[in-house]
Parts: sequence; C-alpha cells; structure tokens
Amino acid sequence: KQAMSTLVPFSDPVIIAHRGASARTPEHTLPAFRKAIEQQADFVEFDLQMTKDGELVAVHDSTLERTTNVKELYPDRSPWAVKNFTLEEIKKLDAGTWFNAAYPPLADPEYQGLQIPTLQEILNLIKEYPSTHIGIYIETKGLGMEEQLAGILQRNHVFEKRQVVLESFIPESLKKLKGIVPEEVVFIQLVDSAPAGEAELNQQMEEIGTYADGVGPSQELISKKYVQAAHRHHLLVHPYNVQNESFIQQAISLGVDGLFTDDPSHLYQLIKPGA
Ligand code: G3P
Ligand code: CA
Repeated sequence: KQAMSTLVPFSDPVIIAHRGASARTPEHTLPAFRKAIEQQADFVEFDLQMTKDGELVAVHDSTLERTTNVKELYPDRSPWAVKNFTLEEIKKLDAGTWFNAAYPPLADPEYQGLQIPTLQEILNLIKEYPSTHIGIYIETKGLGMEEQLAGILQRNHVFEKRQVVLESFIPESLKKLKGIVPEEVVFIQLVDSAPAGEAELNQQMEEIGTYADGVGPSQELISKKYVQAAHRHHLLVHPYNVQNESFIQQAISLGVDGLFTDDPSHLYQLIKPGA
C-alpha cells in the first residue's frame, strides 16, 4: 500500500496537533494552529462542520455552547447546533473567552474575541509558513461536505504543497473523498471500539484496509496485539488523544506511526529528546 511509504520521510512517529496546540490555547482557533506549527508539530488537526449556509468551519462539538458565548448572543436558539447558524452569525461568536474562564493560569487577554475559523482561514494561516513541513490532518464530522472540502483544498493547491491526511469516524465520508482527491492523500479511519477476539480484530482491519491507509484508535485500544494486527494489514496506527507520558512511551515502543496530542511541544521533547 502506498500510505506507509507516503509517510516515510517521518522516521519517528508523527506529531498530530489535536485541535491545534489545544492544551495551552483555545482549541480550533488560529492562535492554536499557529502555536502548533511553531512547536514543530508535523500536522495540524482539526474537525470540520458545515454551517446552515454551507460553509466549512472548524469546530469539534455539533453544538456551539461549550466553546463560545452562543447562549449569551443567541439565547433563543437552543440547542445551538452549528448546522442551524449561518457563517455570518457564527463569526459574531467569541471562541476564546471560555478558555480564559476554564483555565485561569493559561488565560491571555488576546484570546478574548477569537473567532471560529473557516477552512479557508486555516489554509491562509498555513500559507504563512511556506518553508515548514507542516501537514494538514482534517476530520469530517459529518457526511455531505466531501466535494466542497476537496474543492477548497484543490483551489488552494494544498495537495501539491502539503501532506494531507483525511480522517473520519464515518467510513462513507472517507470512501466518498477517496474518489475525488489525489491518490497521495492518506486516509485514516477513526475507531472508538475494537472486537476482543483476534479473528474479529483481523476482520475489522481487513475491512478498513479496503478504503483507508491507517487506523486512528482511541488510546485505550492500543496494545501489542492491536498494533501488530494493524501493521499486518499495512495500516498506519495513529492513537488519539495521548496525554500520559508513560502511555506515550509505551505506544512509541509498540511502534505506532503517529500520535494525536493537545501539547505538541511536550510530545516533541519525548520523541526527539535533545533536538
Ligand atoms: O481526530 C481524532 C480524534 O480527535 C477524534 O476525536 O472527538 O477529538 O475529534 P475528537
Ligand atoms: Ca478530531
């Protein structure tokens, strides 16, 4: 399969900055992505959802209340689903102040008033770093955005300039994307459960291998047996979302190919001590 060789320039596990450098910066904001690039992540990871008027924005939850002031601004719009707001309405939200309130030691007045970024705005930010190797790792949080996503990446020449990884919990989304993007793009099937039996696990890996290049398991699923089963099927293994140092060391020793982290600088120090 081509995916293993696509990522060969990376001899160490790749560092995937989950929602940007989200341990120290409000997740899914431009400063979080900027920090991830500056902390030498290999990839910035973000989730995409579609607004009511069909724009792609980076936000994790299907609703807006955890990471914005949407309840204050639009009190009558419960349950505040992303899909029920236009981009113009979403752009009025403050996506940074919640972080200052939740994490006072990390608070920064500059986070006040940060906007939810569009996919285009994230790509514009990445263009500010032409000489870094930063790759783009995008999760589709819903089915139906594939053609628009591929079109925006194509119009921005992202496929020529950057390593692109597309990930989803939704197999149909990956299968649809596979037909419309260049073959160099790497596909990761996210999974949050695994069968206990070895035969069933092999069957799951075999099925994933028919349309994806790797598997993104929740970190609890990682074991020697799991990593070996994936590698036997020529699948990359990118566990999410690693925090604990001993787990990270164990996962690295088991040969995982990449790790999702909220703290890319910490992972960088563990993977490349002394660099
Ligand atoms: O993208 C991999 C991992 O991030 C999936 O979890 O819920 O953080 O998008 P989530
Ligand atoms: Ca994600």
